Amino acid sequence: MNILGINAYHGNASAAIVCDGKLVAAVEEERFNRVKYAAGFPAAAIRYCLKEAGLTLAEIDHVAVPRNPYARLGTKLFYAVRMPSFARERAKVLSKFTGIPEALAQAFDTDAAKLKATFHRVEHHQAHLASTYFVSPFEHAALLSADGLGDFASSMWGVGQGNRMRIDGAIAFPHSLGLYYSAVTQCLGFLKFGDEYKVMGLAAYGEPLHLEALRDVLRFSSNGNEFGFQLGLEYFTHHRTGPEMSWAESDKTPVLGKMFSDAMPKKLGVPARQPDDPLERRHRDLAASLQARLEEVYLGMLKKLAAQTGTKAVCLAGGVAFNCVANGKIFDTTPFEKVYVHPAAGDAGLAVGAAYHVWHQTLDKPRSFVMEHAYWGPGYTPAEVRRSMQASAVSGEGYTIHELGDDELMRRTAEIIAEGKIVGWYQGRAEWGPRALGNRSIVADPRRAEMKEILNRRIKHREIFRPFAPSILAEKTGEWFEKSYPSPFMNLAYSVHPGKRDKIPAPTHIDGTGRLQTVTREANPRYHALISQFERQTGVPVVLNTSFNDNEPIVCRPEEALDCFVRTHMDALVLGNFLITRP
Ligand SMILES: [Fe+2]
Repeated sequence: MNILGINAYHGNASAAIVCDGKLVAAVEEERFNRVKYAAGFPAAAIRYCLKEAGLTLAEIDHVAVPRNPYARLGTKLFYAVRMPSFARERAKVLSKFTGIPEALAQAFDTDAAKLKATFHRVEHHQAHLASTYFVSPFEHAALLSADGLGDFASSMWGVGQGNRMRIDGAIAFPHSLGLYYSAVTQCLGFLKFGDEYKVMGLAAYGEPLHLEALRDVLRFSSNGNEFGFQLGLEYFTHHRTGPEMSWAESDKTPVLGKMFSDAMPKKLGVPARQPDDPLERRHRDLAASLQARLEEVYLGMLKKLAAQTGTKAVCLAGGVAFNCVANGKIFDTTPFEKVYVHPAAGDAGLAVGAAYHVWHQTLDKPRSFVMEHAYWGPGYTPAEVRRSMQASAVSGEGYTIHELGDDELMRRTAEIIAEGKIVGWYQGRAEWGPRALGNRSIVADPRRAEMKEILNRRIKHREIFRPFAPSILAEKTGEWFEKSYPSPFMNLAYSVHPGKRDKIPAPTHIDGTGRLQTVTREANPRYHALISQFERQTGVPVVLNTSFNDNEPIVCRPEEALDCFVRTHMDALVLGNFLITRP
């Protein structure tokens, strides 16, 4: 039985295919149309998933769409009556979603009436919860989804047992942990969709001096929900103007409207920063306070969830679950001993979640799949790689190309990294989710403190306060970090042992933590072999890993890797078994 999951008309549009309970392919549309966080209809992603599964659209039995426009209808009507612009927006959303069978048929040049698939609507947060629990290794776990907003809710929690999830509660619009983080992020002058991640990095540079003020912005309260948080609505505007999400560049890049009121900067004692204003001490302190308050509430929710459910395992999804700093503190501040975070914890992951929700929750099929790696995107054959090299500037004057056997490739690449050079590392199938995990990565020497500045100047052009991440041999984690619980998808940050910090300064953040990827031989044998070879040469089982891109979606096809290599100042590119160096 074949189930297609489609996240459409929403940020991070994506598709996934589950065949007889096994995930076969999952990918974001942005990897194809090269527009970061692309929304719209993910036709290219669907086409790829079908190709990978060897199926035609006619062979799809079920289509799962992670949106239910009828969820929380009462709350929606309440706001629709008060906000005509919001009502118009909802009507547009509804017509788009009801048109998904037609959009799918149109993308494949067929007639909607000819599709044999049954269409299912899965509520946003139920799809988030399904995306993490049903692919986790746990048979019994507490579940939490937290994000900005989806189907008019911002959080949902419950319990997973065997092949079923039980939903225990939800927090509805306008109260939201994600919108709290986004609004203060905007107040700090970071206005782009996804900038919350930057502010989380900035937080480590400040002191939480504004924590008390933020306790009024995001309050503990017994306002009808057992987890007891609500927003101090006087500091926000989204409940009056509607949750404004528009799509710039002809329905592609998501743009959030302004969410904080004038009362917020007044309360915080920090004027709203403009994007080009200098970043001052007070901004760093506000970022630290924002993070500290998020942790109080998020970890507080998890503590209550642990007490309610009595389980030691928790599964997380939703945009807030990307907060690796908060996730890293779960082990010390809650009773949970096991944590699973879906690699595409944000809305892309809904495509997988909706498909698994149909497989287990609707069709009552038994569990048979654990997502142990994230390589569910497109891969290319050596012949395709060779053709793209021949068409690229690397075939011209000055570049050298060597095809090497595995052992020689790992040895030589590790040597180049140890010499302080920057290597594009392109292997196998692309990662699912926003983190590069050793198949579409740029790797560098973690021992050189200057590497962070070099990478930023030559390739990544990111804010200097943002940390780079370490990839470590999983079996060595405890020797280098204060926790050793696996973090295969880079969604947990741990403290580096104080004695080791000066050995890997480049991916160690200012507060001594690292947003690590633990690499096993089973999950990624080639990346594991590369890091092992680097350890053999240097004594350090860690490489610095950053995504293979330059202010664009992560490269997908070999052509994009070659273009990025030629365009930037990377020293070498490894494409499969080809080692390419520049003049
Ligand atoms: Fe979401």
